[in-house]
Amino acid sequence: MVNIEKIKNIMQERLSPTRYAHSRNVAEEAKNLAKNYGENMDKAYLAGMLHDYAKGLAAQKLITIAEKHDLIEDKIEYLIPDILHARVGARLLREDKITSDSLILTAIARHTLGDANMSDFDKIIFLADLIEPSRDYPLRERLHCIAYKQLDDAMLVGLELTIKHCLDNKRLLHPKTIQVRNIFLEKQY
Ligand SMILES: [Fe+2]
Ligand SMILES: [Fe+2]
Repeated sequence: MVNIEKIKNIMQERLSPTRYAHSRNVAEEAKNLAKNYGENMDKAYLAGMLHDYAKGLAAQKLITIAEKHDLIEDKIEYLIPDILHARVGARLLREDKITSDSLILTAIARHTLGDANMSDFDKIIFLADLIEPSRDYPLRERLHCIAYKQLDDAMLVGLELTIKHCLDNKRLLHPKTIQVRNIFLEKQY
């Protein structure tokens, strides 16, 4: 694994200034959440910094890489290829020898849609992406507050906010988002 300053430089070169600022914020937020829940703070910071590694890639490139490595999970991903940046990013980080840490790579692969079997570390990266301070939506502060109290409650709220956002903006909704939302809701039954 390369050192953190090198990683920052790599990310700064790959991303727009706004997206790079977002990555730095996610890294800080992930580190704080990791501290709160007794997870590895250094790995959380790294995962936050790297989570959008493939975010700047063109749609066709995301599809080509995803097809090459059998990363397509649902045909809807051809219509919303940006969703692939999570799985493609994790794959490229390994290929580019940035990190081979499976805790970090799994959390990055799951940061857009979540997963049926998320570790607390996965949830921390997923939530840090949604609650970092430059995110601008009405319930961000509320979700931020819940995220530091109970990870599963925050996951449910975060997934439902994502679903509402898709409905309000007539955006395609990935079936996995609904599946994962149901899993977190079932935990409350
Ligand atoms: Fe992302
Ligand atoms: Fe992000």
